[in-house]
Amino acid sequence: MCGIVGYVGKGTATSFLVSGLSKLEYRGYDSAGVAVIEGGDLTVRKFKGRLANLASNIQTSPIKGNIGIGHTRWATHGAPSDMNSHPHLNSEETIAVVHNGIIENYLELREWLKGEGYTFKSETDTEVIPNLIDYYYHGDLFEAVKKAIKRLEGSYAIGVLSKNEPDKLIAVRKDSPLIVGLGEDQFFIASDIPAVLNYTRDVYLLEDGEIAIITNSGVKLFTEDGKSISKEVYHVTWNEDAAEKGGFDDFMLKEVHEQPKAIRDTMTSRVSMDHSICLDDLKLSKEDLENIDRVFIVACGTAYHAGLVGKHVIESLAKIPVEVDIASEFRYRNPLVTDKSLVIVVSQSGETADTLAALRNSKKIGAKIVALTNVVGSTVSREADHVLYTLAGPEISVASTKAYVTQVIGMYMLAMNFAETKGTLTSKELDKLKEELLDLPEKVELVLEDKAKVKEVAKKIYKENDVFYLGRGLDYALALEGALKLKEITYIHADAYAGGELKHGPIALIEEGTKVITPFTQDDLKEKMLSNIIEIKARGAHVIGICYEGTKGVEEVMDEVLYIPKTLGMFGPILGVTVLQLLAYYTAKEKGCDIDKPRNLAKSVTVE
Ligand code: F6R
Repeated sequence: MCGIVGYVGKGTATSFLVSGLSKLEYRGYDSAGVAVIEGGDLTVRKFKGRLANLASNIQTSPIKGNIGIGHTRWATHGAPSDMNSHPHLNSEETIAVVHNGIIENYLELREWLKGEGYTFKSETDTEVIPNLIDYYYHGDLFEAVKKAIKRLEGSYAIGVLSKNEPDKLIAVRKDSPLIVGLGEDQFFIASDIPAVLNYTRDVYLLEDGEIAIITNSGVKLFTEDGKSISKEVYHVTWNEDAAEKGGFDDFMLKEVHEQPKAIRDTMTSRVSMDHSICLDDLKLSKEDLENIDRVFIVACGTAYHAGLVGKHVIESLAKIPVEVDIASEFRYRNPLVTDKSLVIVVSQSGETADTLAALRNSKKIGAKIVALTNVVGSTVSREADHVLYTLAGPEISVASTKAYVTQVIGMYMLAMNFAETKGTLTSKELDKLKEELLDLPEKVELVLEDKAKVKEVAKKIYKENDVFYLGRGLDYALALEGALKLKEITYIHADAYAGGELKHGPIALIEEGTKVITPFTQDDLKEKMLSNIIEIKARGAHVIGICYEGTKGVEEVMDEVLYIPKTLGMFGPILGVTVLQLLAYYTAKEKGCDIDKPRNLAKSVTVE
């Protein structure tokens, strides 16, 4: 979704603004713009399309000021256009605002402001903000911002500049992420840490309702009521290289190759043959677990697919009933959450609007909340009762890969910890699971070594209009994730079905040559799945299977087989998904797609 940056210092503002925005491109956007105070006036440049348009305009005609704000817009209100791009100005063009989020009551505010004599140029919700600030401006920008935000309903991270107070940048956060970077004699705001990492590793992570006033002499922080506050500086320890491509063509391919390390890091100090599974601060006793009426796993997209694996493993190992919900459904369906429920929210970014709302609704009811998230200091991590971090490192590609596998690892660890505490598994059974779990990184490495075969299969499917994925049990969860990966980066229509559902409708779609991808990692469902495969083969399907090395009887019925090392069925999704991610990647490559920035998608969905 939209990205925000801001700069105050002695350097040329646009050099940070453009470089910072380039580090936020992964969030998804369709236009980019900056506003800089130059010679006491506001200079605004904003263009539909890629950031390169803005960058080349600035290169041809540089802007000299030392204080500015910038924005990449992901259109919500009004189509992508120069006019709808940010920054937006008030009617008198004295105040500039960049905004990430949605102002839900903007129509009402817009009408009211029109009645007060204000005029509007864009179709955006954002344009009410500079006008509202102007309405309340009587010589003190901070006071005006405080009053204006009291009128706003919805979510926002905003950056504000005024030519009347040309040395000041004001930033506010509510329900949309915003950080303040603390450099030497220069300060920054940004939607995410990678934007400032070339300049500083020390940041403030703003909380909801906090306001920062940034000038050349430093950063002052306040509550929304204007009370001065102090805050701990968060020092970023991960490396800047983690946010660079490191020799790979695309972030997605790099991130798939980082999966062995991401899995190892996520298990370090938590899974060992020498001790019980440790889940950081999450220590539920046998009594706590027996008192849980139900576990709810709530998430969106790929994280939801990790939740489907979680349901399967928690139910089968720990014998606790689990419901898995898509966060946007959960929040509006009055689920039967009680103060005895355990709600696990899964979110790579920790900022997804629907997931956050599900967390907050459940917390109000008194449920215990566990966050499985990748971003330290994210809103979800701060609001949950307990956090289990996936240690995947920054994930830049819009299509989630290494975050998914670490979320699934998180689910295994939760299920095994619960099973051990409840005594539903013997120590011998647990040791076997741990042994296999610890072997997974090496096995993922073997899958990655075999990518040439996946590339060959990609060449056979990239011209298709439709591809189907079919699986049973955990392979169904895997099929859903494989289909999502393919559709989001190749734009090929892809659907996943449970094997047993075939005869209830989907088999009607099978005709001569239809490509069907079948993960085949669940030994207990092997015979059932083989029958499904034979049925679709009889109707002309071209079947591509993902099978353990040495599986008997598959080459006879499948057109192509991509082999993965043998593991326990429970861990099959980790190896299977690596193949499906590579297949989606190489198919997109064959089609010449912009893999890291697929059309219409945003990395962090901070609005509903
Ligand atoms: C798909 C993908 C999305 C995200 C979803 C949730 O590849 O990345 O489906 O999984 O938007 O995002 P987080 O995990 O940040 O809450």
